[in-house]
Amino acid sequence: MTVQDQATPSGRAAERVAAPAGEVRFPQGFLWGSATAAYQVEGAADEDGRAPSIWDTFSRTPGKVHGGDTGDRACDHYHRFREDVALMAELGLTAYRFSVSWPRVQPAGRGKADQRGLDFYRALADELLARGITPFLTLYHWDLPQALEQGNQSGQSGQGGWPARETAYRFAEYAHLVAEALGDRVQQWTTLNEPWCSAFLGYGSGVHAPGRTDPVAALHAAHHLNLGHGLAAQAVRAAAPGAQLMVSLNTAAVRPRSGSAADLEAARRIDALANRVFSGPMLHGVYDEDLFADTAHLTDWSCVRDGDLAAIHQPLDALGLNYYTPTLVSGPDPDAAAPDGTPVRDDGHGASAHSPWPGSEHISFHQSGGERTAMGWSVDPEGLTELLLRHHREAPDLALYVTENGAAYEDVPGADGLVHDTRRIAYLRQHFTAMREAMSRGADVRGYFLWSLLDNFEWAYGYSRRFGAVHVDFATQRRTPKASALWYARVAAAGRLPD
Ligand code: NOJ
Repeated sequence: MTVQDQATPSGRAAERVAAPAGEVRFPQGFLWGSATAAYQVEGAADEDGRAPSIWDTFSRTPGKVHGGDTGDRACDHYHRFREDVALMAELGLTAYRFSVSWPRVQPAGRGKADQRGLDFYRALADELLARGITPFLTLYHWDLPQALEQGNQSGQSGQGGWPARETAYRFAEYAHLVAEALGDRVQQWTTLNEPWCSAFLGYGSGVHAPGRTDPVAALHAAHHLNLGHGLAAQAVRAAAPGAQLMVSLNTAAVRPRSGSAADLEAARRIDALANRVFSGPMLHGVYDEDLFADTAHLTDWSCVRDGDLAAIHQPLDALGLNYYTPTLVSGPDPDAAAPDGTPVRDDGHGASAHSPWPGSEHISFHQSGGERTAMGWSVDPEGLTELLLRHHREAPDLALYVTENGAAYEDVPGADGLVHDTRRIAYLRQHFTAMREAMSRGADVRGYFLWSLLDNFEWAYGYSRRFGAVHVDFATQRRTPKASALWYARVAAAGRLPD
C-alpha cells in the first residue's frame, strides 16, 4: 500500500487515504456526469413556440452540414427526457450538464418568455433532482435566436449577432428570465459554452452558424461574448442569489512544434487568440497588449468601451474546461506549407478557405503522431493535466470542472447488437488518470462530464460522428448503452478506475 494525496470533495489535497499502489481513486463526492446541448439532442424544433436559432437556419442551408443533417429531430430528447434521465440514473451518474435553448424560452431573443419553454426545463430539472442527479445548466450553447442575428433592436435589417454589442444586453435579459424561472431548483449555472467556437468558427472560418467569414466580426464577437458573460453573470446572481456560477472554456493546450523562435512566437499568438482573449477579461479583468498588437491591422478594439472590463470581470465560483486534444503550432515554414504556399491547417476545426485565427493566418497547425479519434484529433491525455494545472496556477481560488471530454469513434453495433467501444474506454481511462494526476498536484477538480451521454448532432458533421456513451439509432430513437457506458458506470459507482 502507498499513501496517496486524496483530494477532498472541496478539492484541496488535504485528506490522505491509503490506496493500493497504482490505483487511481477519486475523492468521495466527486461528480461523475455527462453533458449534452439543446440543439444537439432536443429536436422538437418547431414545437411549443420555439423559433429558429442560427443553427436551424445554417443547417437548413444546403452544403453547410454533412449530409444535409439538421437538429429538427436529433435525439428527440424534448419528448424522451424522462427516459434519458432514467438511463443516467441507471448508470449511476450524479450530475447532468445540459443547455437551455434560448429560442425555446425567448423566441424573439428579446421581451417576454414563452412559459412552455421554461416549463420544459423546470420539468427536466425536477426529474434530475428526483433521481439525485445535480443539474448543471448552461445558458448558451451556440443556438442564438435567428431574430438577433438578423437585425438590431430598432428592427433595421442588418448584421447583428455577437459582433453587435446589443446581443450582449439581450443575453443578460434572457439569463435573468431563465434564472428567475429556474433559480429555485438549479444551483449550478454556466453562462457560455466555448465562446471561442461561437466567435471564431461562427464569424471567422464560417464552419459554424451563422457562417460568416469576417475576421473583424470574429474579434468583435469575442468581446461581446465576454461582455455577455459578465452581464449574464450579474443577472443570474440578481435573480438567483444562491447560484454557483461558471463559464466553460475550450482553452487550448498550445504547444510549439519546436523550440525555434518562429514556433515559440506562433504559440504565443495562438495562446492569445485561443485562451487569453477570454480568460484575460473574464478571470483577470484585462485584455493582454499582445492580443491587441497582433490584431491592430484588423481592429482598434474600440468596441471595448469604458467600464466593459469591470462588467466582464465578475466573481465566479468555478471554471469549466472542455478538453479534447492539444493545439500544435509552427511559425511560417516553407516545409510546413502546401505547394501553393498556404499554411497547413490541421487544427481540428473543420475545413474552410477562411482561417478562424484572425491575424494569424500564416501559422501552421498540426496533429501530433499516434492515435487519432474519428474527428482526426490526436489522443493526448497529458494535455488535460497541463490545462488543469495551468488554470489552477492562474486562478488558484476557482474550483475546476472538466465540463467536456470524450471521443468520437466509428461505433458499429456488433452481431449481438451491442457496441464494443474499447477504444473509447481506453481514451477515458487515460484521461481520468491524467485528471487525477492534476488533482494530485493540487488542481481543485470537483467533477467530470463525459461528452456525451448520447450520440447526437455533431454540428457541421451532422450525425456522422458519434460521441455518445449511449448509442442512438436515429431511425428508431432506440438507446443502447455502449460498453463504455457500462465501464463509466463502474467508475462512478466505485470512485476509482477498474483494474
Ligand atoms: C465541444 C462542444 O461544446 C460540443 O457541442 C461538441 O459536440 C463537442 N465539443 C465535440 O466536438
